Amino acid sequence: MGYPFLSRRGFLSGAAAAVMLPVIAPARATGSTKEVRLFAGVTRLPLAGAGYPQTGVWAYDGVVPGPEIRVRQGDRLRVSVENGLAEDTTVHFHGIRLPNAMDGVPHLTQHPIAPGSTFIYEFDLPDAGTYWYHPHIRSGEQVGRGLYGALIVEEREPIQVDRDVLWMLSDWRLLPDGRISDDFDNLHDMSHNGRIGNTVTVNGRVADAFPVRAGERIRLRLVNAANARIFGLTFAGHRPRVIALDGHPVDPHEPDGGRIVLGPAMRVDLVLDMTGAAGERFDVMDTFYRGLSYRLLELVYDGEPLRKAPPESPIALPANTVPEPDKASAVRHEIVFNGGMMGQMMMRERGIGGGDMMEMMALMRSGRIWFINGKAAVGHMMDPMLTLELGKSCVLAMTNETAWHHPMHLHGHAFRVIARNGAPTRYREWQDTVLVAPREKVDIAFVADNPGDWMFHCHILEHQESGMMGVIRVK
Ligand code: C2O
Ligand code: CU
Repeated sequence: MGYPFLSRRGFLSGAAAAVMLPVIAPARATGSTKEVRLFAGVTRLPLAGAGYPQTGVWAYDGVVPGPEIRVRQGDRLRVSVENGLAEDTTVHFHGIRLPNAMDGVPHLTQHPIAPGSTFIYEFDLPDAGTYWYHPHIRSGEQVGRGLYGALIVEEREPIQVDRDVLWMLSDWRLLPDGRISDDFDNLHDMSHNGRIGNTVTVNGRVADAFPVRAGERIRLRLVNAANARIFGLTFAGHRPRVIALDGHPVDPHEPDGGRIVLGPAMRVDLVLDMTGAAGERFDVMDTFYRGLSYRLLELVYDGEPLRKAPPESPIALPANTVPEPDKASAVRHEIVFNGGMMGQMMMRERGIGGGDMMEMMALMRSGRIWFINGKAAVGHMMDPMLTLELGKSCVLAMTNETAWHHPMHLHGHAFRVIARNGAPTRYREWQDTVLVAPREKVDIAFVADNPGDWMFHCHILEHQESGMMGVIRVK
């Protein structure tokens, strides 16, 4: 096969892999079940802070982010979700390799949870890491109004840190009176880079100062819960190291250019050593969009130093239980993304809409804006775009022929990102959501070990809702 597969450690081939392929990942169970209740309802919160009008939001248990769910690797989780909204909802536990019936996709894996009724999700946690939960029905509006929360699965043997901190990042499109602008799913957002808000929050509040102490070691869990905004964070005066991506351990490393990039739905775990001195302040900036940089918050050193210098204990996390894809037997599938503004040329070449300009415009007006292999999925698309054989390794070779970024998410699995534009990736990171840049090619590899119908979609929620999704069947 003519694709650039890395033959580095960990990539098993041939007979060894065949023996080791677990069809269901063996999670060493702890035998304990954690029970959680979530109530999805309407409330008002001071998102923008004191002195600004409050905002009517949709929230789990009246808070944004929703309650942080914390469990241990190998635990079982039972979440009973009561729907106090005026419309149907579901909950998807993003990144968890769970049984298909617990995946929270309306019509595909369950009936929607009607207003006033309750659904119970119950599943095991095979992998440690930083995950999150959110609705999977009319997600652009339900997530955009505040329905999201973190799910943290602790390692059996965690690394030593002074503080374990969560920053759930999001943004909102607020009107001057504090209300959320209700222009969800407009054609402009759908055909460009999605619903980008005008107010960025950390853990549901406009952030300002984050107090730290000299000599402290922090594990910082970043979750991007925004509909569409991509974050590119820099920490002035500090050298954060990435230890996990989308929950899964990665060789600890400093990110390229010191900037941590998170597309929607992505998570990054950092070790942040506080090497400054008492009284100092440092900017954390978001520099992702050119010309639109802003300060997210300030690290503020106060109090007595915790110690002379941050500890030097190891920061590499223990591996999770995801099976290794097998290079020799992997089946390769080509996947092409088209559409969006400025995408007409490529659509023409691909013959989408018959290659006819009028036809393409008509597709767009009907909400079919983004195409995966020439198909725009709207409504409840049930026919699989791909069927993978259970237990087999596969490679999805994605080509982004659009002028936009797309964070592509696969349910029920984690995949290795093995190549970008034909070149092997340095860390062969496990992800469940991979950011694909305009015109970029990204190859991912995984074992299709989880039977069922799984969503594969862009996590810019306005792109998902205007066609950029499909179903991958594993059987
Ligand atoms: Cu986080 Cu299909 O979603
Ligand atoms: Cu997209």
